[in-house]
Amino acid sequence: MDIGNCLSLLNFLSAVDVRQLARSLRGSLTQDRTLCQIDFDVDANTGFFPPRPLPRLPEPFGIWEQAMADAQGTLGLGDDESPEALAKRATGEQWRSRVRSWPVLDTSDLHDIRYLQRAHMVLAFILHFYVHSTPTRDGCPTLHIPRSIAIPIVAVSDALGTAPVMTFADTVLWNWELIRPEMPLSADNIRYVNLLSGNETERAFYASSGAIELKGVEMLQIIESFMSLPSTADLAAINKIARDLSHLKTIIEELTDIFLAIKESVDPKAFYWHCRPWWVGSPSDGSSKPRWVFEGVADGKVKYAAGPSAGQSSVMHALDIFLDIDHKLQKKRQPTPSESNKKADIGFMERMRLYMPGLHREYLQYLTASPRSVRDVAQRHPSLRGPYNDVVAALKRLRDVHIRIVTLYVVTQSHSAPPSDIQMKERDGGRARGTGGMEASTLLKHGRDATTRAMI
Ligand code: HEM
Repeated sequence: MDIGNCLSLLNFLSAVDVRQLARSLRGSLTQDRTLCQIDFDVDANTGFFPPRPLPRLPEPFGIWEQAMADAQGTLGLGDDESPEALAKRATGEQWRSRVRSWPVLDTSDLHDIRYLQRAHMVLAFILHFYVHSTPTRDGCPTLHIPRSIAIPIVAVSDALGTAPVMTFADTVLWNWELIRPEMPLSADNIRYVNLLSGNETERAFYASSGAIELKGVEMLQIIESFMSLPSTADLAAINKIARDLSHLKTIIEELTDIFLAIKESVDPKAFYWHCRPWWVGSPSDGSSKPRWVFEGVADGKVKYAAGPSAGQSSVMHALDIFLDIDHKLQKKRQPTPSESNKKADIGFMERMRLYMPGLHREYLQYLTASPRSVRDVAQRHPSLRGPYNDVVAALKRLRDVHIRIVTLYVVTQSHSAPPSDIQMKERDGGRARGTGGMEASTLLKHGRDATTRAMI
């Protein structure tokens, strides 16, 4: 992509605060990164990950860092009435009381994007520790988040263009250190640091998501390479696209293997009963759970606070956009959507983008706005139809595997008894809902069928 082309595309995009951050990143322009990648905080080697672990926050924000560290292992779920959790209640109350007593720290001097990302991650952990360690008071319709957390997390989220709640980026993109600091980031050289539940299953889940995200960097390279082709009409270009599509199919198969390996490291019961309750965000309308009230923040300002979901992984969205997967059922394709497809929340994927870092969302908008489509090129050149369809079939298989995982980890568990070391109060109505509050099966089958429909 030449710079002029890239800038004209940028003009299409809405001007938001995050553009200021992008400008500050340009200082690090190097030969192996295109201007677009710099503008969208996408690294040539680490993709949506920052290239290095985030630095700890400077003073006076040390109290946040300390509180996040203190909470780990010492706070239990507020709704867990097991002896172990009850023994942690007093510590939890003292921790929350300290958080309430903090001054509201001014974040306006945090201009560096890496500090802002770190601040979001630390505050998101504190927010979820605060909310989920609080015992639910029956009949109380609201849960108040103190000003000391509410005001800074909203400010930092505004600066980053993301939601004031724990997101996929907090748990996966910004929550790691290098095992061997002298070596570059890779799936073998990453260790997830902060956990809500303290359960190793949580760490393993972040590691699997991280492995997918890192493998996905190779997909981003293929996408960038397609976007930068001078032409898509000559024989050399067609041959290159065919080779890249074949490589993309292999990458997706490797992603599928990572999904399959989840069963070896992530325990379904621990995932559902120990980890998942900590991730839940502010309840959607109609839920019996108390609504979150961000104290000191104008009413209606916080519109999105649903909690993290791997549906917020920018790499998976980039792949869908590149292949022109029509999640919103806007295009006339075969087979026509089933009755179940029509009932699915077709706006889910788009909504998940609001939880991504703003620059990454803009990268996806830039991909969407590009007039160049690999599906269109494959439609025009019969020799590319097979390679394109093979990629789509590989992605459909990946989604099939994901559905089987969700059945095991969410649907089956939602009908099972909790493990003996946890005694939770009433769960969310028995239906299998995703962390984003969705009915998981219908949604995921809709995504799988939308993928199939991209076949030429
Ligand atoms: C134990 C493993 C996993 C479980 C139980 C699980 C569960 C779910 C659920 C319930 C949804 C529905 C949406 C929601 O409410 O969040 C979902 C969506 C999604 N998940 Fe996962 N997930 C797992 C692993 C992963 C991993 C490792 C990734 C890769 C980054 C991933 C990527 C996605 C994507 C992209 C969606 C959006 C729907 C789609 O693209 O089909 N999931 N997941």
